[in-house]
Order: sequence, then structure tokens, then C-alpha cells
Amino acid sequence: MIKVLFVCLGNICRSPLAEAIFNHKIQALGLSRKFKSDSAGTSDYHIGELPDERSIKCANRKGLTITHRGRQVNRTDFRDFNYIIAMDDNNLRNLNNLKIKYNFPEKDIFLMRDFVAGWEGLPVPDPYYGGEEGFDEIFQILDESIESFLTKIKEVHQLYA
Ligand code: 4NP
Repeated sequence: MIKVLFVCLGNICRSPLAEAIFNHKIQALGLSRKFKSDSAGTSDYHIGELPDERSIKCANRKGLTITHRGRQVNRTDFRDFNYIIAMDDNNLRNLNNLKIKYNFPEKDIFLMRDFVAGWEGLPVPDPYYGGEEGFDEIFQILDESIESFLTKIKEVHQLYA
């Protein structure tokens, strides 16, 4: 079982959407049994909350459903997940600090857009303070990034449906 954790700040906008897109894609590929995915936030701002209404609506417009409750990244995540994927530099920095604090110095943390050639180092922008259109924008960014991520891990783990 390959375990993938998507991480943003609040765990109500970007990372639950990433998780939903990822689940949809692995289902379409017939690879659901090979993966477990989850999402979490670096902050404790929205623990226990449903995703932002705008993320839920954006997912619904694309035919996806989101079922997640906000939670904060914790120590066992560094032990349990094979791939921990940050949405932006700020999340990446926080996760790299946490892995030292929790004593997982060797753990690689990935940046979501690094999986797409030409997008290295770019953020999945935080849509929280913007309008609905920002959510469609990050949906497209996540869709393409996750497509490339899947191409990579199918190869690395030699997965065939
Ligand atoms: P997310 O968006 O990190 O994509 O879930 C945010 C959600 C909440 C806040 C910031 C970003 N906030 O400051 O409460």
C-alpha cells in the first residue's frame, strides 16, 4: 500500500481538493487498492471542519465529491506516509521543520508542482482570500500536477491496473 498525504495550511481548500482529485484518478485507473490518501494542514485553524464551501462546490462542478474533516499534521504522519506533498513553500518549510522536531530527518517532503516539468518551485496558490474563480484555477493546477505525480509513481512502483 502506497500512502500519500497532501498538505496545505488550513486543510479546507487546497489539500482536500487534491485528495479528491487523486482518489478520482486512481479509481479511474483501477488502482484504488494500491493506495491510501489523506490530507492535513500545518495549522490548527480548522480542525474538525468540513472543507471550504467553495472547494466543495468546485469539486462538485467537476463531478467529484469531497468528504474530509480538517486535521493537523502530526508525528505519525511522517512515519506512515510514503509521499508527503506540500502545496507551497510555506507548507514545505513548516513540514521540513516538523520532520526535524519529530526525528524523521531523512524524510523527503515534496512540493506539488515540482512533478510538472517547467513548474518546479511554483506554489499551488492559496485561494482562501480570493473569489470562486481561484478555486477553478487551483483545480486545473492540481489536476495537472497530480496527473504527473501519478505517472511518476506508477513508474517507480511498477503499477499496472
Ligand atoms: P488552505 O487555505 O491552506 O488551502 O486550506 C486556507 C484556509 C484557511 C486559512 C488560510 C488558508 N486561514 O487563514 O484560516
